[in-house]
Amino acid sequence: MTAPDRAHNSRLPRTGKIPYGGDYNPEQWPRQVWEEDHRLFTQAGIDTLTVGVFSWSLTQPAENTYDFTTLDGILDRAAADGRHVCLATGTAALPPWLAKKHPDVNRTDFEGRRHRYGQRHNFCPSSPNYRRLAPAVADRLAERYASHPALLAWHINNEYGGVCYCDLCAENFRDWLRARHGTLDALNDAWWTTFWSHRYTDWDEIEPPSALTEHWRGPDHTAFQGITLDYQRFMTDALLGCFTAEKEAIRAHDPDTPVTTNFMGAYRPLDYHRWAPHLDFASWDNYPPLDAPPSRPALAHDLMRGLKDGAPFWLMEQTPSTTACRDVNPLRRPGELRLATWQAVAHGADAALYFQLRASRGACEKYHGAVIGHSGRDDTRVFGEVAFLGGELTEVGAVTLGARTPARTALLFDWDSWWALEISDGPSRLVRYTDVVHAYYRAAREAGADVDVVAVTADLTPYDVVLAPVLHLVKQDLPQRLEAVARRGGTVLATFLTARSDEHDRAFLADVPGPLAPLMGIRVDEWDARPEDVVQPIQLGELTTQARLVFEIVQLRGAEPVATYGADFYAGTPAVTRNAFDAGEAWYVATALDQPGVDHIVRRILARHDLIGPYADHRTVETATRVAPDGTRLLFLLNHAREPAHLTAHTSATDLLTGKRLGQGEALTLDPLGVAILRSQ
Ligand code: GLA
Ligand code: ZN
Repeated sequence: MTAPDRAHNSRLPRTGKIPYGGDYNPEQWPRQVWEEDHRLFTQAGIDTLTVGVFSWSLTQPAENTYDFTTLDGILDRAAADGRHVCLATGTAALPPWLAKKHPDVNRTDFEGRRHRYGQRHNFCPSSPNYRRLAPAVADRLAERYASHPALLAWHINNEYGGVCYCDLCAENFRDWLRARHGTLDALNDAWWTTFWSHRYTDWDEIEPPSALTEHWRGPDHTAFQGITLDYQRFMTDALLGCFTAEKEAIRAHDPDTPVTTNFMGAYRPLDYHRWAPHLDFASWDNYPPLDAPPSRPALAHDLMRGLKDGAPFWLMEQTPSTTACRDVNPLRRPGELRLATWQAVAHGADAALYFQLRASRGACEKYHGAVIGHSGRDDTRVFGEVAFLGGELTEVGAVTLGARTPARTALLFDWDSWWALEISDGPSRLVRYTDVVHAYYRAAREAGADVDVVAVTADLTPYDVVLAPVLHLVKQDLPQRLEAVARRGGTVLATFLTARSDEHDRAFLADVPGPLAPLMGIRVDEWDARPEDVVQPIQLGELTTQARLVFEIVQLRGAEPVATYGADFYAGTPAVTRNAFDAGEAWYVATALDQPGVDHIVRRILARHDLIGPYADHRTVETATRVAPDGTRLLFLLNHAREPAHLTAHTSATDLLTGKRLGQGEALTLDPLGVAILRSQ
């Protein structure tokens, strides 16, 4: 059923088409409802059901009692219609008996309050009882269902996240620190503890950084960035340990079926790059605020694709219509679901799944959108759109499966830098990591470049352009590898607040930007942070644009100025620079330029490498390329506007969705929110 993809260390479930379906909780319903569900699934082209995500209290009603009657029925019923199951271990929501019997499973929060039973995603990752009982239930499930004909993939837990500050976590944190730093001297040096008289003389003196210890005004305000960074890394690893323990339990019975857990895109608390090697394939839940530009979910898709070296991922959840968790939950307009789904596929999704297939009758998600609503009707608009999409996915078949993105532009994404930037006192709390990253990503994408969003440890040799916005922490040999990009003719871009500190968030004892200074050909001694309403006029060639938040004062050390500040005592000094470095170039943007300014610079860089796409002048038309294992080239065209887009075919191709053949230069009109998938060999 599965094939290892050793080259990319990823293993996706083998299917004949894009799996289509989603979270399904028939345990909430009597059997006759299941029959109705399956009738509707067939009608909508739904072939894959994610089950068991919240059924721990049913499958294990007491510590020594397992009852698989309901789950047996669910899997057998799915198999009877040839449907696949993505089987969850269900360990994200504790059964009440477990929290009562073993209170160590409950978390202690940032304020130091030990929680009692309630909600979900509520377990302490260091709890011995959780670490014993969660793998035990995974073990039982794998033993029972490893050879079940419906089984397609394993889904461990659900949306891992959050933080625990209990005494067990404190103990494990100290062990983790011993392994990381070796000696207390090394730790004291890394955290710079002589500041404020913090030199530790015993490991037991170290407390998790919380509201009771190093923090004030919440998790972003810490006296010692070093301890807070290490706690974020530790918590990432602690939760990962829960995942790998369950995965091992599954592997003892089932050596083959691919295993995943559903991520949340650009989710700050967990460094997904540390998790990625342990997953067989990546999957994630896409709930963009509906007023976000389409490049926001696109960035998250590309980040998720980057986790497994560019291999396809699964879209594990999206709403067919509306969320319930926000204060105000707008409805997806007609056509938006289809567009969002093809956008996911365009960026590398090899599955399209919903939360949820049937709406819950009670509790906090009863108003969350579903394929089947409370009325059970098949003649609603939403059901109609879901079924239409199901038909399209069936038509398209296997052609997109395994297809990869031939990007020549990389954007470096780094959780350490994200954390360090946002827990920093100074220069400005107004700089938000993903806002700056998104501005550069958006500029490249709207210019028609495919972008790989990758870890700083990724191989950079496939790329002509490497974008490193607000890469605050610079680790290991990254400076040398960025220089190598430029030496062979590539272009590297860095921005303000890049390369400020080492892996412990200690400032480099060197000119800013530290180890990137030779590549950038500049020196920065001072920086000015101002409130959002203070605007610097910036002249960029023909374009008059603006900058805000942080203004670094740049001295040229080989680089040439590309743009200068227009006001204040540093008026006339460089705001953007370019440095010829061997056969390549290094650009430095010393301030938070507005989007037109970022667009201008990124387009100049892309143009140098002939990476501007054929539809770059159509701002609302998103393009993305995937190349199938057999060499088939697919160009996705996604019209995000509510008006038709009038284009000209850039090459001869066939539209996969309509079967229409197009000659090069022929008119091609995309409907409002319309999609075309142009296939050329
Ligand atoms: C998350 C969870 C689901 C559900 C949805 C609702 O993604 O994984 O269980 O709560 O949100 O949007
Ligand atoms: Zn804990």
